[in-house]
Amino acid sequence: MAYTAVELIELKRDRQTLPPDGIEWFIDAYTKGSIPDYQMSAMAMAIVFNGLDPDELAAWTSAMIASGDTLDFSAIPAPKVDKHSTGGVGDKISIPLAPLVAACGVAVPMMSGRGLGHTGGTLDKLESIPGFEPRIDQARFGEILRDHLVVLAGQSDTMVPADRKLYALRDATGTVASIPLISSSIMSKKLSEGLDGLVLDVKTGSGAFMDELEESRELARTMVEIGAKSGVETVALITSMDQPLGREVGNANEIRESVEVLRGAGPADVTELTLALAEVMLELAKVEGGRERLEEAVASGAALQKLKDVAAAHGGDVSVLDDTSLLEVADREAVITAPEGGFVTRCDALTIGLAATRLGAGRERKEDDIDRGVGITLSAKIGDEVTKGDPLAVVRFNDEGKWEGQRDKLASAWSISPDAPGSRALVLERIDSAQI
Ligand code: URA
Repeated sequence: MAYTAVELIELKRDRQTLPPDGIEWFIDAYTKGSIPDYQMSAMAMAIVFNGLDPDELAAWTSAMIASGDTLDFSAIPAPKVDKHSTGGVGDKISIPLAPLVAACGVAVPMMSGRGLGHTGGTLDKLESIPGFEPRIDQARFGEILRDHLVVLAGQSDTMVPADRKLYALRDATGTVASIPLISSSIMSKKLSEGLDGLVLDVKTGSGAFMDELEESRELARTMVEIGAKSGVETVALITSMDQPLGREVGNANEIRESVEVLRGAGPADVTELTLALAEVMLELAKVEGGRERLEEAVASGAALQKLKDVAAAHGGDVSVLDDTSLLEVADREAVITAPEGGFVTRCDALTIGLAATRLGAGRERKEDDIDRGVGITLSAKIGDEVTKGDPLAVVRFNDEGKWEGQRDKLASAWSISPDAPGSRALVLERIDSAQI
């Protein structure tokens, strides 16, 4: 059946259902360049307004996957499970999680991204390990996975090229905020990895992509359903991102904190979320032992050894993991102090993430360089009691002008009250295919 781009755009504009072969043709033609950006922009905007039903979404996601290479690691005799986070502040979880799960016999072919906006990126953090190279070809990806059961790489250019083009276009046309477009973008990339299972960390709160719980729930449900339809069992945990995860926000300092988690001495929230996601990964891989097995892999040093092995396989100098004081630290230091005594009731993830980015720890535009020694160490988080003058954060930076511009904004991230706040759980909900 032959279609024209205009016909299909008009169908979606008029709230009709797109035929699966029409979707396939549209995405293929866009990837090859015969549908121009302006027609894809019109289609994306029609989807923002009118959505995609579950069958359209499945067809859209499959067409995105079919636009490029897919991976096949069936020759590696271990279940393959990955994790994806919708992104947050201080979210270094992939770095302790992937080696921990691999140390329990599950293969983790992890493909991560770079930071953009107020959220950090795992690849940028890993590059704080001198020599670490996340850009590897598919053959090397397979070798590292076979040898170590874990690989920590960027996505190759040949996987899901439709998403690469479409995501850049959405960014420039106000069409990012759409649950079907976000979920198909994320899931097409993950489902190209040849996985047996996938766990999603869907963040909710001020530092998350979606700050309302109901929206995060809908995003989680939609992605779990796409996974189920594609035969990849997918479980989502909805987790709080009102305040940064852990005490460190930056790059090199987040590697330091990740190592602490694998030494059994990490902050409670990072440790808890790492273990919660790892437990689901073992469950999806049908590997027994649960939390006890994971705790044993930390206590025995096996998980930290895996991180060192995989970092070395990527060309990294692992002496910085043995002695994390060797990691880069910016030259200057300033302290934000409590203006009054009381309990911290707010430690705003978005404000802190933006300040870290603008000090140089992240990039506002894709082509920006980042400064890996810049970091914010949080001394007080929600629920902590402080007296006037106590440190709320220690900030490390290199550019005095940037610091002057961020000092007051960063200080506004904390609220202090005479009354202790109620506690909010970190893992709020689990959504799996039984619930959809
Ligand atoms: N992350 C993605 O990979 N795609 C989106 O559309 C949004 C976040």
